[in-house]
Amino acid sequence: MISLTINGRPEQFDLPPDTPLLWALRDHLGLTGTKFGCGAALCGACTVHVDGEAVRSCSAPIGFLDGKKIVTIEGLAASVGRDLHPVQQAWIEEDVVQCGYCHSGQIMSAAALLAQVPRPTDAEIDGALGGNICRCGTYQRIRSGVHKAAEIAAATSGAGRAAQSAAAT
Ligand code: FES
Ligand code: FES
Repeated sequence: MISLTINGRPEQFDLPPDTPLLWALRDHLGLTGTKFGCGAALCGACTVHVDGEAVRSCSAPIGFLDGKKIVTIEGLAASVGRDLHPVQQAWIEEDVVQCGYCHSGQIMSAAALLAQVPRPTDAEIDGALGGNICRCGTYQRIRSGVHKAAEIAAATSGAGRAAQSAAAT
């Protein structure tokens, strides 16, 4: 039995250890927001967070993940205590999506980047999201979306600090 925490909930899987995490999420938990693209760690459509790192779930056998904390697109906002993660909010404001198929993965990669680098440069964005393929070619809007998400995160965390210090006085 393999134990994982998925979006804050403990889950157990009685599956062969070489089962890709993607299929455990989609077929066994019904979390279909994480997409299948290539199945070979080449497109990024299946990106989730494993202990905070962006990971290609199509190529991550669950047998290697026992005890890990997984966050999918369905749990991303709650993982930071919001209704929308700053990346999701920015994606809406910047109208980033075209067909949408790649964007669960794009958003998860962007969120992992911003957790490490709150104000990334264009080069850092391209480096972190370069493995996330978009067949619709939304790359310029993705880059704009990441910059907008960084602004939103900074503004809202600043507002949160101000509210906290006002409440403390
Ligand atoms: S489906 Fe996993 S990287 Fe393409
Ligand atoms: S928006 Fe269509 S594949 Fe990226």
